[in-house]
Amino acid sequence: MATSTKPTATDSTLAVISHPLDPLTAEEIAEASSILKAQRQLGSRVRFETVVLKEPAKVDVVDFSQGAPIRREAFVVVLDNDDGATYEALVSLDEKRVVSWQHVPGVQPRVMFDEFLECEAAVRADPRFQAAIKKRGISDPSLVMVDPWSAGNYGYEDEAGRRLVLCRNFARSSPTDNGYARPIEGVTAVVDLNSMEVVRVDDYGFVPLPPEAGNYSAEFVSQFRQDLKPLEITQPDGPSFQVDGWSVAWQKWRLRIGFTPREGLVIHTVGYEDKGRVRPILYRAALSDMVVPYGDPSKDHYRKNAFDAGEYGIGSLTNSLTLGCDCLGEIYYFDAVLNNGKGEPFVIPNAVCMHEEDYGILWKHTDWRIGQTEVRRSRRLVVSSVATVGNYEYGFFWYFYQDGTIQMEVKLTGIINTAAVPEGETPKYGTLVAPQLNAHIHQHFFNFRLDMSVDGGNNTVFEVNTVAEPPGPDNPHGNAFYAEKTPLRSEWEAQRVIDPMKGRYWLVSNTSAMNTLGQPVSYKLMPGENILPFAHPDASIIKRAGFMTKHLWVTPYDRNEISATGPYPNQHAGGAGLPEYTKNDRNVENTDVVLWYTLGYHHVPRPEDWPISPVGYCGFTLKPVGFFDTNPVLDVPPSEHHGGACHH
Ligand code: CO
Repeated sequence: MATSTKPTATDSTLAVISHPLDPLTAEEIAEASSILKAQRQLGSRVRFETVVLKEPAKVDVVDFSQGAPIRREAFVVVLDNDDGATYEALVSLDEKRVVSWQHVPGVQPRVMFDEFLECEAAVRADPRFQAAIKKRGISDPSLVMVDPWSAGNYGYEDEAGRRLVLCRNFARSSPTDNGYARPIEGVTAVVDLNSMEVVRVDDYGFVPLPPEAGNYSAEFVSQFRQDLKPLEITQPDGPSFQVDGWSVAWQKWRLRIGFTPREGLVIHTVGYEDKGRVRPILYRAALSDMVVPYGDPSKDHYRKNAFDAGEYGIGSLTNSLTLGCDCLGEIYYFDAVLNNGKGEPFVIPNAVCMHEEDYGILWKHTDWRIGQTEVRRSRRLVVSSVATVGNYEYGFFWYFYQDGTIQMEVKLTGIINTAAVPEGETPKYGTLVAPQLNAHIHQHFFNFRLDMSVDGGNNTVFEVNTVAEPPGPDNPHGNAFYAEKTPLRSEWEAQRVIDPMKGRYWLVSNTSAMNTLGQPVSYKLMPGENILPFAHPDASIIKRAGFMTKHLWVTPYDRNEISATGPYPNQHAGGAGLPEYTKNDRNVENTDVVLWYTLGYHHVPRPEDWPISPVGYCGFTLKPVGFFDTNPVLDVPPSEHHGGACHH
């Protein structure tokens, strides 16, 4: 049976601040906005892009003791639609005043959800747009889905300084029809989001609507398979974790949950209890940004790419999850409290799902000489959220395993982006997924910022490659190979790509903390399936998403360096974020290091991805290496089974 444990509105967990990293409450968001509106005389033409906790300095968090006073500050970004100017503010909630206020010239805040809706209405109402769709046999603009895509930056003079989106459009045949089955090919409306005017409607020529519907919702399925019997997860004594506000304890793990409109789920202050003390591993982990570059060079499709965190605020697009559907078993939900364009708070109930999962065998051995078997079951703690960005869904799943392993898995699903092609045409830069329906080849690049803290602040990153010993006196039989460790001492040295044939991984070591074997305590970052971009080095998207060109980046900790694409990637000309942070080749040896891992998911669409894609998976793993003195899970007790315990 699926059950949920959840704080109520009167529960102290949501209303009272008990830790410096607690996200802003609804009351704090409202107060920060109203302080700013009053003290800066902001009018109705100002949109609030971000109202978020200004996270305190790391030292204040690490040294915090329960019950000590907590300073609360809000970081706010506003956009003035009248002159297109962007401002950043810091608001003290304790002193009820604006601490700082500054104009940030030449940037565009991300596209806000309110703008999505207003933009769709503006395009539907535009006579030029109505004429263009009428030519294609579409008479009812209210059934047209208008997807505003960030315009990027291609150096076009008439676009400079304007807050633009490119609207690609799809025709539903009824209100619940899947519109992505019928792309209105060739028609792109360009909208200025500051004035909410349709600047122009580009028409690249007529291509018929694809002939077939692409519906997947239950109402359209005529026959469900009949052979599924109930599968229930029960935990009669409840889950093994404890939650206090945003703080989680699960067996030996300690961590905190956070949430921001841009990054979504944030994991803070991860530690593992060992010999009576909680040893720090990871100070902060979150998606820093992501981008989806498409590979079709035609019409406006060459401009198709989307930075779903930096340009759209993937956290603000997070789903409210449903028990028994998204999440199965004994679930604890965290609500996310975010801001809308007016600076008012809004709540995403059940934004973060947390539960335990059985994960098969933890370890096993049968001593066949004496007939003794020992086996233990593995369990993992799952902390996850799912966001819908236009046509696509992204699930972000953090797994914590009993043996100290941390895993991030991205789940990709939703509807692939589509274009129409004339009858009989076989697309080169895509896959025909239904008659006359082309799904363009594309890639999904995610960058995760991992602020490591392996047994404290002084960490060094090593690259480990396995090397075949050349034949010679040391290797007379040709069988020899060994793992070779090389320190990555500076930011440039630490810009690396994967090499699966060398078994390459990256080790984060604390060289001043040794295990009982005299080895530096370490965690390794293990890549999974990964890839590099195919766009040419001179392409706009490579400049704007330079982070894609390396799988590993390492920087010394700086609380202001939070995104791989910089603070304002929307319409940015390029170079911001990691390329800029690392331009001085700072030292990253024996210091507080931040790892930035780029994860590429290559998507050559398949007919099976239509009309909705079964989940695709990608991710990476952090694993202890000499962090413990020995196998840390010998103390996991044998499970009970019907005949006794799992050791006999
Ligand atoms: Co895809």
